[in-house]
Amino acid sequence: MLKKVAIITNGGDCPGLNAVIRAIVKTAETNGVECYGYIEGYKGLYENNYIRLESSGRASGLLHRGGTIIGASNSTNLFNLKVEENGQTVYKDVSDICVENVKKVGFDCIFTLGGDGTQKSARDFSTKGLKIIGVPKTIDNDVAHCEMTFGYNTAVSVAAEAVDRLHSTAESHHRVMVLEVMGRYAGWIALESAIAGGADVALIPEIPYDINSVVDKINRRRQAGKDFSIVVVSEGAKSKDGDMVVKKTLDDGKGLDNIRLGGIGEQLAEEIESRTGMVSRNTVLGYVQRGGTPTAYDRVLSSKYGYKAMELALEGNFNVLVTLKDGKLGSVSLEDVVGNNKEIGARSGGTETTNIKRIKMDDDLIKIAKNLGICLGE
Ligand code: F6P
Repeated sequence: MLKKVAIITNGGDCPGLNAVIRAIVKTAETNGVECYGYIEGYKGLYENNYIRLESSGRASGLLHRGGTIIGASNSTNLFNLKVEENGQTVYKDVSDICVENVKKVGFDCIFTLGGDGTQKSARDFSTKGLKIIGVPKTIDNDVAHCEMTFGYNTAVSVAAEAVDRLHSTAESHHRVMVLEVMGRYAGWIALESAIAGGADVALIPEIPYDINSVVDKINRRRQAGKDFSIVVVSEGAKSKDGDMVVKKTLDDGKGLDNIRLGGIGEQLAEEIESRTGMVSRNTVLGYVQRGGTPTAYDRVLSSKYGYKAMELALEGNFNVLVTLKDGKLGSVSLEDVVGNNKEIGARSGGTETTNIKRIKMDDDLIKIAKNLGICLGE
Protein backbone atom coordinates (compact mmCIF):
# COMPACT_ATOMS: atom_id res chain seq x y z
CA MET A 1 0.00 0.00 0.00
CA LEU A 2 1.40 3.35 -1.04
CA LYS A 3 1.08 6.08 1.58
CA LYS A 4 3.67 8.78 0.89
CA VAL A 5 5.57 9.59 -2.27
CA ALA A 6 8.01 12.36 -3.19
CA ILE A 7 8.95 14.17 -6.38
CA ILE A 8 12.40 15.39 -7.42
CA THR A 9 12.90 17.76 -10.36
CA ASN A 10 16.55 17.61 -11.32
CA GLY A 11 18.77 18.95 -14.09
CA GLY A 12 18.04 22.02 -16.18
CA ASP A 13 14.54 23.43 -15.93
CA CYS A 14 12.17 22.48 -18.69
CA PRO A 15 8.66 23.47 -19.81
CA GLY A 16 6.15 20.95 -18.47
CA LEU A 17 7.87 20.15 -15.15
CA ASN A 18 5.06 21.78 -13.18
CA ALA A 19 2.44 20.04 -15.29
CA VAL A 20 4.00 16.66 -14.43
CA ILE A 21 4.08 17.61 -10.72
CA ARG A 22 0.40 18.57 -10.94
CA ALA A 23 -0.58 15.30 -12.62
CA ILE A 24 1.32 13.21 -10.06
CA VAL A 25 -0.22 15.13 -7.15
CA LYS A 26 -3.75 14.93 -8.53
CA THR A 27 -3.49 11.21 -9.38
CA ALA A 28 -1.98 10.57 -5.94
CA GLU A 29 -4.84 12.38 -4.22
CA THR A 30 -7.44 10.52 -6.28
CA ASN A 31 -5.91 7.32 -4.92
CA GLY A 32 -5.45 8.43 -1.30
CA VAL A 33 -1.68 8.93 -1.45
CA GLU A 34 0.20 11.89 0.12
CA CYS A 35 2.61 13.73 -2.11
CA TYR A 36 5.79 15.68 -1.25
CA GLY A 37 8.45 17.50 -3.21
CA TYR A 38 12.18 17.68 -2.51
CA ILE A 39 13.58 21.20 -2.79
CA GLU A 40 16.18 21.88 -5.50
CA GLY A 41 16.47 18.44 -7.01
CA TYR A 42 18.95 15.95 -5.63
CA LYS A 43 20.30 18.65 -3.30
CA GLY A 44 17.02 18.40 -1.35
CA LEU A 45 17.43 14.65 -1.05
CA TYR A 46 20.82 15.12 0.60
CA GLU A 47 19.65 17.95 2.83
CA ASN A 48 16.40 16.12 3.63
CA ASN A 49 14.56 19.26 2.59
CA TYR A 50 11.03 18.61 1.32
CA ILE A 51 7.58 20.16 1.35
CA ARG A 52 4.01 18.87 1.15
CA LEU A 53 2.36 19.21 -2.26
CA GLU A 54 -1.43 19.44 -2.40
CA SER A 55 -3.70 20.41 -5.27
CA SER A 56 -5.55 22.73 -2.89
CA GLY A 57 -2.26 24.37 -1.91
CA ARG A 58 1.15 24.74 -3.54
CA ALA A 59 0.36 22.41 -6.43
CA SER A 60 -2.46 24.59 -7.69
CA GLY A 61 -2.42 26.69 -10.89
CA LEU A 62 0.57 24.83 -12.28
CA LEU A 63 -0.44 23.58 -15.71
CA HIS A 64 0.83 26.53 -17.74
CA ARG A 65 3.70 27.62 -15.50
CA GLY A 66 7.31 27.31 -16.69
CA GLY A 67 10.18 26.17 -14.46
CA THR A 68 9.54 24.04 -11.40
CA ILE A 69 7.89 25.14 -8.17
CA ILE A 70 10.18 22.85 -6.13
CA GLY A 71 13.41 24.04 -7.75
CA ALA A 72 16.06 22.08 -9.58
CA SER A 73 19.76 21.52 -9.40
CA ASN A 74 21.92 20.83 -12.41
CA SER A 75 25.21 20.20 -10.69
CA THR A 76 24.54 17.84 -7.81
CA ASN A 77 26.01 14.39 -8.22
CA LEU A 78 25.30 12.69 -4.89
CA PHE A 79 27.65 9.85 -5.77
CA ASN A 80 30.52 12.30 -6.24
CA LEU A 81 29.46 15.50 -4.49
CA LYS A 82 31.73 18.51 -4.45
CA VAL A 83 32.10 19.73 -0.85
CA GLU A 84 34.43 21.99 1.10
CA GLU A 85 36.15 20.31 4.04
CA ASN A 86 38.80 22.04 6.17
CA GLY A 87 39.31 24.64 3.46
CA GLN A 88 39.79 21.97 0.82
CA THR A 89 37.55 20.89 -2.07
CA VAL A 90 36.81 17.19 -1.88
CA TYR A 91 34.40 14.86 -3.69
CA LYS A 92 32.29 12.50 -1.58
CA ASP A 93 29.75 9.75 -2.14
CA VAL A 94 26.83 10.86 0.05
CA SER A 95 24.27 8.47 -1.43
CA ASP A 96 23.95 6.35 1.73
CA ILE A 97 22.98 9.43 3.74
CA CYS A 98 20.25 10.13 1.17
CA VAL A 99 18.93 6.56 1.31
CA GLU A 100 18.75 6.84 5.11
CA ASN A 101 16.90 10.17 4.79
CA VAL A 102 14.25 8.59 2.56
CA LYS A 103 13.86 5.54 4.80
CA LYS A 104 13.49 7.69 7.92
CA VAL A 105 10.72 9.80 6.37
CA GLY A 106 9.11 6.69 4.90
CA PHE A 107 8.61 7.66 1.27
CA ASP A 108 7.29 4.63 -0.61
CA CYS A 109 8.39 5.92 -3.99
CA ILE A 110 10.54 8.72 -5.39
CA PHE A 111 9.65 10.18 -8.78
CA THR A 112 12.76 11.47 -10.55
CA LEU A 113 11.88 14.01 -13.23
CA GLY A 114 15.04 14.45 -15.27
CA GLY A 115 17.20 13.61 -18.22
CA ASP A 116 20.03 11.19 -18.71
CA GLY A 117 22.23 12.25 -15.77
CA THR A 118 19.30 12.35 -13.35
CA GLN A 119 18.12 8.88 -14.38
CA LYS A 120 21.65 7.49 -14.05
CA SER A 121 21.70 8.56 -10.39
CA ALA A 122 18.11 7.29 -10.05
CA ARG A 123 19.23 3.87 -11.28
CA ASP A 124 22.12 3.93 -8.79
CA PHE A 125 19.72 4.80 -5.95
CA SER A 126 17.42 1.96 -7.01
CA THR A 127 20.29 -0.51 -6.57
CA LYS A 128 20.64 0.84 -3.01
CA GLY A 129 17.05 -0.06 -2.21
CA LEU A 130 15.03 3.06 -3.06
CA LYS A 131 11.87 2.59 -5.08
CA ILE A 132 12.15 4.90 -8.06
CA ILE A 133 10.05 5.89 -11.04
CA GLY A 134 11.73 8.13 -13.61
CA VAL A 135 9.97 10.60 -15.89
CA PRO A 136 11.89 11.62 -19.05
CA LYS A 137 12.54 15.36 -19.02
CA THR A 138 14.81 17.25 -21.35
CA ILE A 139 14.38 19.69 -24.16
CA ASP A 140 17.12 17.75 -25.99
CA ASN A 141 14.79 14.75 -26.53
CA ASP A 142 17.73 12.36 -26.20
CA VAL A 143 16.56 9.87 -23.56
CA ALA A 144 16.87 6.27 -24.72
CA HIS A 145 13.70 4.22 -25.29
CA CYS A 146 11.53 7.31 -25.23
CA GLU A 147 9.82 8.65 -28.33
CA MET A 148 9.52 12.12 -26.88
CA THR A 149 10.58 13.82 -23.69
CA PHE A 150 8.40 16.58 -22.28
CA GLY A 151 9.69 20.11 -22.92
CA TYR A 152 11.02 19.20 -26.35
CA ASN A 153 7.94 20.33 -28.26
CA THR A 154 8.06 23.74 -26.56
CA ALA A 155 11.78 24.12 -27.33
CA VAL A 156 11.21 23.32 -31.01
CA SER A 157 8.32 25.79 -31.18
CA VAL A 158 10.46 28.57 -29.69
CA ALA A 159 13.37 27.74 -32.01
CA ALA A 160 11.10 27.62 -35.07
CA GLU A 161 9.72 31.04 -34.17
CA ALA A 162 13.28 32.34 -33.89
CA VAL A 163 14.04 31.00 -37.39
CA ASP A 164 10.93 32.79 -38.68
CA ARG A 165 12.01 36.04 -37.07
CA LEU A 166 15.58 35.78 -38.35
CA HIS A 167 14.27 35.43 -41.89
CA SER A 168 13.23 39.09 -42.08
CA THR A 169 16.66 40.43 -41.07
CA ALA A 170 18.41 37.95 -43.36
CA GLU A 171 16.25 38.96 -46.31
CA SER A 172 16.33 42.72 -45.68
CA HIS A 173 20.10 42.88 -45.19
CA HIS A 174 21.15 40.08 -47.56
CA ARG A 175 22.85 38.31 -44.71
CA VAL A 176 23.56 34.82 -43.51
CA MET A 177 21.90 34.38 -40.11
CA VAL A 178 23.17 31.58 -37.89
CA LEU A 179 21.00 30.33 -35.01
CA GLU A 180 22.70 28.25 -32.29
CA VAL A 181 20.21 26.07 -30.44
CA MET A 182 20.61 23.57 -27.60
CA GLY A 183 21.30 19.87 -28.08
CA ARG A 184 24.48 18.45 -26.61
CA TYR A 185 24.74 15.08 -28.28
CA ALA A 186 21.58 14.98 -30.38
CA GLY A 187 20.33 17.40 -33.01
CA TRP A 188 16.56 16.97 -32.62
CA ILE A 189 15.87 20.64 -31.81
CA ALA A 190 18.08 21.90 -34.65
CA LEU A 191 16.70 19.54 -37.26
CA GLU A 192 13.02 19.93 -36.43
CA SER A 193 13.20 23.72 -36.03
CA ALA A 194 15.08 23.95 -39.34
CA ILE A 195 12.33 21.97 -41.05
CA ALA A 196 9.58 23.94 -39.27
CA GLY A 197 11.17 27.31 -40.01
CA GLY A 198 12.38 26.57 -43.54
CA ALA A 199 16.10 26.99 -42.80
CA ASP A 200 18.67 26.29 -45.52
CA VAL A 201 21.29 24.52 -43.42
CA ALA A 202 20.96 22.36 -40.29
CA LEU A 203 24.10 21.16 -38.54
CA ILE A 204 23.71 18.47 -35.89
CA PRO A 205 26.08 16.54 -33.59
CA GLU A 206 25.29 13.29 -35.42
CA ILE A 207 26.84 14.54 -38.69
CA PRO A 208 30.27 16.22 -38.37
CA TYR A 209 29.99 18.92 -41.00
CA ASP A 210 32.14 19.95 -43.94
CA ILE A 211 32.29 23.77 -44.13
CA ASN A 212 32.75 23.54 -47.91
CA SER A 213 29.35 21.96 -48.28
CA VAL A 214 27.75 24.74 -46.16
CA VAL A 215 29.51 27.44 -48.21
CA ASP A 216 28.52 25.70 -51.42
CA LYS A 217 24.85 25.67 -50.39
CA ILE A 218 24.91 29.41 -49.56
CA ASN A 219 26.67 30.24 -52.85
CA ARG A 220 24.23 28.15 -54.88
CA ARG A 221 21.34 29.99 -53.29
CA ARG A 222 22.98 33.31 -54.13
CA GLN A 223 23.48 32.26 -57.74
CA ALA A 224 19.78 31.37 -57.85
CA GLY A 225 18.90 34.89 -56.71
CA LYS A 226 18.45 34.19 -52.98
CA ASP A 227 20.94 36.53 -51.39
CA PHE A 228 20.33 35.42 -47.82
CA SER A 229 20.50 32.13 -45.94
CA ILE A 230 19.51 30.73 -42.55
CA VAL A 231 21.72 28.22 -40.74
CA VAL A 232 20.57 26.35 -37.61
CA VAL A 233 23.32 24.67 -35.61
CA SER A 234 23.18 22.50 -32.46
CA GLU A 235 25.48 23.62 -29.66
CA GLY A 236 27.05 20.15 -29.77
CA ALA A 237 27.77 20.12 -33.53
CA LYS A 238 31.34 19.88 -34.71
CA SER A 239 33.15 20.15 -38.02
CA LYS A 240 34.75 17.10 -39.66
CA ASP A 241 38.18 18.14 -38.50
CA GLY A 242 37.19 19.94 -35.30
CA ASP A 243 35.72 19.20 -31.89
CA MET A 244 32.69 20.31 -29.89
CA VAL A 245 33.07 23.93 -28.80
CA VAL A 246 33.34 23.99 -25.02
CA LYS A 247 32.66 27.29 -23.30
CA LYS A 248 33.59 26.15 -19.83
CA THR A 249 34.73 23.03 -18.03
CA LEU A 250 33.16 22.78 -14.59
CA ASP A 251 34.43 20.98 -11.50
CA ASP A 252 31.02 19.94 -10.22
CA GLY A 253 31.67 16.23 -9.87
CA LYS A 254 29.76 15.20 -12.97
CA GLY A 255 32.85 13.58 -14.50
CA LEU A 256 33.57 13.95 -18.17
CA ASP A 257 30.10 15.32 -18.82
CA ASN A 258 30.82 18.47 -16.81
CA ILE A 259 31.22 20.77 -19.80
CA ARG A 260 29.18 23.80 -20.77
CA LEU A 261 28.88 24.02 -24.53
CA GLY A 262 28.58 27.18 -26.60
CA GLY A 263 30.38 29.09 -29.33
CA ILE A 264 29.93 26.95 -32.43
CA GLY A 265 27.45 29.47 -33.92
CA GLU A 266 29.91 32.36 -33.63
CA GLN A 267 32.74 30.30 -35.15
CA LEU A 268 30.51 29.24 -37.99
CA ALA A 269 29.27 32.78 -38.74
CA GLU A 270 32.86 34.05 -38.92
CA GLU A 271 33.93 31.24 -41.20
CA ILE A 272 30.92 31.66 -43.50
CA GLU A 273 31.54 35.41 -43.74
CA SER A 274 35.21 35.01 -44.60
CA ARG A 275 34.52 32.30 -47.19
CA THR A 276 31.43 33.74 -48.88
CA GLY A 277 32.01 37.45 -48.39
CA MET A 278 28.42 37.73 -47.15
CA VAL A 279 27.78 39.53 -43.89
CA SER A 280 26.97 36.82 -41.34
CA ARG A 281 25.55 37.14 -37.85
CA ASN A 282 25.08 34.67 -35.04
CA THR A 283 22.22 34.43 -32.53
CA VAL A 284 22.40 32.13 -29.52
CA LEU A 285 18.88 31.14 -28.50
CA GLY A 286 20.06 29.86 -25.11
CA TYR A 287 17.75 29.59 -22.15
CA VAL A 288 14.81 31.20 -23.95
CA GLN A 289 14.09 27.78 -25.46
CA ARG A 290 13.95 26.19 -22.01
CA GLY A 291 11.91 28.78 -20.16
CA GLY A 292 8.33 29.90 -19.93
CA THR A 293 5.01 28.35 -20.61
CA PRO A 294 4.78 24.87 -22.18
CA THR A 295 2.90 24.32 -25.44
CA ALA A 296 -0.49 22.59 -25.28
CA TYR A 297 1.24 19.46 -26.63
CA ASP A 298 3.74 19.48 -23.75
CA ARG A 299 0.99 20.10 -21.19
CA VAL A 300 -0.84 17.00 -22.42
CA LEU A 301 2.36 14.93 -22.61
CA SER A 302 3.37 16.03 -19.10
CA SER A 303 -0.09 15.16 -17.79
CA LYS A 304 0.16 11.73 -19.42
CA TYR A 305 3.61 11.11 -17.94
CA GLY A 306 2.59 12.29 -14.46
CA TYR A 307 -0.52 10.13 -14.45
CA LYS A 308 1.36 7.08 -15.76
CA ALA A 309 4.16 7.51 -13.22
CA MET A 310 1.65 7.40 -10.37
CA GLU A 311 -0.19 4.47 -11.94
CA LEU A 312 3.07 2.49 -12.11
CA ALA A 313 3.73 3.29 -8.45
CA LEU A 314 0.25 2.14 -7.44
CA GLU A 315 0.88 -1.13 -9.31
CA GLY A 316 4.21 -1.56 -7.49
CA ASN A 317 6.12 -1.37 -10.74
CA PHE A 318 9.32 0.39 -9.60
CA ASN A 319 12.79 1.22 -10.94
CA VAL A 320 11.47 2.03 -14.37
CA LEU A 321 11.21 5.08 -16.60
CA VAL A 322 7.84 6.13 -18.00
CA THR A 323 8.00 6.04 -21.78
CA LEU A 324 6.04 6.82 -24.89
CA LYS A 325 6.32 4.29 -27.70
CA ASP A 326 4.24 4.38 -30.87
CA GLY A 327 2.14 7.01 -29.11
CA LYS A 328 1.34 4.71 -26.18
CA LEU A 329 2.40 5.11 -22.56
CA GLY A 330 4.58 2.37 -21.14
CA SER A 331 7.71 1.82 -19.10
CA VAL A 332 11.22 0.47 -19.42
CA SER A 333 13.72 -0.47 -16.72
CA LEU A 334 16.09 2.30 -15.64
CA GLU A 335 18.93 -0.12 -16.30
CA ASP A 336 17.89 -0.36 -19.94
CA VAL A 337 17.80 3.43 -20.21
CA VAL A 338 21.15 4.32 -18.67
CA GLY A 339 22.92 1.01 -18.11
CA ASN A 340 25.40 1.61 -20.90
CA ASN A 341 26.04 5.24 -20.18
CA LYS A 342 29.57 5.11 -18.92
CA GLU A 343 30.94 8.59 -18.30
CA ILE A 344 33.54 8.21 -20.98
CA GLY A 345 30.78 7.68 -23.51
CA ALA A 346 28.69 10.59 -22.35
CA ARG A 347 31.22 13.14 -23.58
CA SER A 348 31.36 11.88 -27.11
CA GLY A 349 27.75 10.69 -27.22
CA GLY A 350 26.48 7.91 -29.40
CA THR A 351 29.47 5.66 -28.92
CA GLU A 352 29.02 2.02 -28.06
CA THR A 353 29.23 2.95 -24.40
CA THR A 354 26.18 5.16 -24.28
CA ASN A 355 22.58 4.82 -25.34
CA ILE A 356 21.70 8.49 -25.53
CA LYS A 357 19.01 8.70 -28.22
CA ARG A 358 20.57 10.35 -31.26
CA ILE A 359 19.11 10.86 -34.72
CA LYS A 360 19.76 7.81 -36.86
CA MET A 361 20.74 8.32 -40.47
CA ASP A 362 17.69 6.41 -41.67
CA ASP A 363 15.31 8.55 -39.60
CA ASP A 364 12.50 10.06 -41.66
CA LEU A 365 13.57 13.53 -40.52
CA ILE A 366 16.95 13.13 -42.22
CA LYS A 367 15.32 11.99 -45.45
CA ILE A 368 12.76 14.80 -45.29
CA ALA A 369 15.43 17.46 -44.67
CA LYS A 370 17.53 16.24 -47.59
CA ASN A 371 14.58 16.10 -49.94
CA LEU A 372 13.53 19.59 -48.95
CA GLY A 373 17.00 20.79 -49.91
CA ILE A 374 18.25 21.46 -46.38
CA CYS A 375 22.04 21.09 -46.31
CA LEU A 376 23.18 18.86 -43.43
CA GLY A 377 26.83 19.67 -43.95
CA GLU A 378 27.74 16.35 -45.52
O1 F6P B 1 20.18 19.08 -21.19
C1 F6P B 1 19.43 20.18 -21.51
C2 F6P B 1 20.31 21.37 -21.78
O2 F6P B 1 19.40 22.37 -22.11
C3 F6P B 1 21.38 21.16 -22.85
O3 F6P B 1 20.91 21.27 -24.14
C4 F6P B 1 22.39 22.21 -22.49
O4 F6P B 1 23.68 21.88 -22.95
C5 F6P B 1 22.32 22.20 -21.02
O5 F6P B 1 21.01 21.82 -20.66
C6 F6P B 1 22.71 23.50 -20.39
O6 F6P B 1 22.37 23.50 -19.05
P1 F6P B 1 22.92 24.46 -17.91
O7 F6P B 1 23.60 25.62 -18.54
O8 F6P B 1 21.69 24.85 -17.15
O9 F6P B 1 23.83 23.64 -17.09
